[in-house]
Amino acid sequence: MKVVFSAAEVAPFVKTGGLADVAGSLPPALSAIGCEAIVVLPLYGSIKTDGLKKTAIAIAANMGNSTYQATVYKGRLGSRTSVYFISQHGLYSRPNPYGDQNGDYPDNALRFIFLNLAVLELLRQLKFRPDIIHVNDWHVALVPALLKNLPKADYLYGVRSVLSLHNLAYQGHFPPETMELTGLPASLFTADGVEMYGMLAFLKSGILFADALTAVSPSYAKEILSPELGFGLEKVLGKRKKSLAGILNGIDHDEWNPQKDQLIPAKFSRKDLSGKEKCRAALLKRFGLENDPKKPVIGIVSRLIEQKGFDLVAEVAEEMMKLDFYLVALGTGQPKYEEFFKALQAAHQDRVAVEIGYNNALTHLIEAGADMFLMPSVFEPCGMNQMYSMAYGTPPIVRATGGLKDSVEDWRPATGKGTGFVFDKADAKSLLAAVKRALKTFGKKAEWEKLVENGMAKDFSWKKSAELYLQLYKKVIA
Ligand code: ADP
Ligand code: GLC
Repeated sequence: MKVVFSAAEVAPFVKTGGLADVAGSLPPALSAIGCEAIVVLPLYGSIKTDGLKKTAIAIAANMGNSTYQATVYKGRLGSRTSVYFISQHGLYSRPNPYGDQNGDYPDNALRFIFLNLAVLELLRQLKFRPDIIHVNDWHVALVPALLKNLPKADYLYGVRSVLSLHNLAYQGHFPPETMELTGLPASLFTADGVEMYGMLAFLKSGILFADALTAVSPSYAKEILSPELGFGLEKVLGKRKKSLAGILNGIDHDEWNPQKDQLIPAKFSRKDLSGKEKCRAALLKRFGLENDPKKPVIGIVSRLIEQKGFDLVAEVAEEMMKLDFYLVALGTGQPKYEEFFKALQAAHQDRVAVEIGYNNALTHLIEAGADMFLMPSVFEPCGMNQMYSMAYGTPPIVRATGGLKDSVEDWRPATGKGTGFVFDKADAKSLLAAVKRALKTFGKKAEWEKLVENGMAKDFSWKKSAELYLQLYKKVIA
């Protein structure tokens, strides 16, 4: 099975969120089960070319009246997966993938239309005719429509596509005049086609034209059929319901593994948790907090946006601060949430520490050193951190939505089953009750140890989900 996997971000080369984690770990997992998988992404300014090889491939694509040229670099993920970087100086040589402090880059339509065209042109130049092109999120969601509109003589004519939906809140809408840059027939620009709210809609286009669709968890696959979480695409998705499957993301146990992690001060395992205590001490020290063993550390690592549920935290913050714990948070995002965390820290300097920013090494220290991890998301297509937490013996407190619901099992003291604390309603009262339950359980040593052990025993590796993708690819080409 030959698979081309494309996304706008791929860890460890470039990452803003979980999409990069998936794009950096699913393709190697596919390679490991016999697929010939290659990955394609843009060469952003932040990606160092030191470890990459410049290829002889030259790409050209027409967009409107202009021809854009690109060169191609090659790298690797693991030992078996080749990664191709599209190098187009004017479009991609910027520090970030999507935008800067002023918001999205104004030429994102051009940048990402080119990426879609470049993926196909690269394959022609490489003479690599895949069985499946697997695209992710809106940035590469024009590929399915481009494939379906190729002339019969084209090298890629008939190649099938799969689109994975990681987050319907981001859809890629651009002014109608950008339609002609795509080379797609103008006749597709209708309400039944790629038009939405008068704009060219990348994600809608992918949903209409991909041969199969996946959502990143079984629950999210159902939730996006409702107006609350379909973000206007629920009807279009409803029409394609038979082609939509939910497959839970896996995690990369080479990177997120307390037994091997090079980014934490002491390694640990299910059998010997003494290293975790050292990580906790190091974490508290890093943030200038005392280490009172009776107080659990609640960790947060998140993009600070509405989706992540911090409005609920703000609503009960005062009530919550009456309870006995440390809070350590790392994140960046909307100013109002950054301000909220900074103010909470100022008011409770002995118990709350916050770092505003992006810091991968610190994420590992928080996962390892915290006692519990908070993700009160309003919606969460999959979520990666709750799975990392469980692997690091840090039971998550999560809301029952999307992948959080599918990966965390509520702790039941009576049976000794469960891996975290799950609350149903997206309201502040339910969040507070879950936090109280977690703190109470922390106080009962034997119960807590069982809970920690249950989470660490879970296998969230890609093995199972990569198999599900392979089965799906086989069905699509059958
Ligand atoms: P989303 O993709 O919606 O942000 P996920 O839970 O799927 O949510 O993935 C988030 C990923 O980004 C995780 O790997 C998390 O550790 C990482 N991350 C989020 N915020 C930061 C940050 N401030 N610094 C470093 N890594 C972060
Ligand atoms: C998106 C979602 C997140 C998911 C990630 C990877 O960023 O917000 O829930 O884990 O994609 O699929």
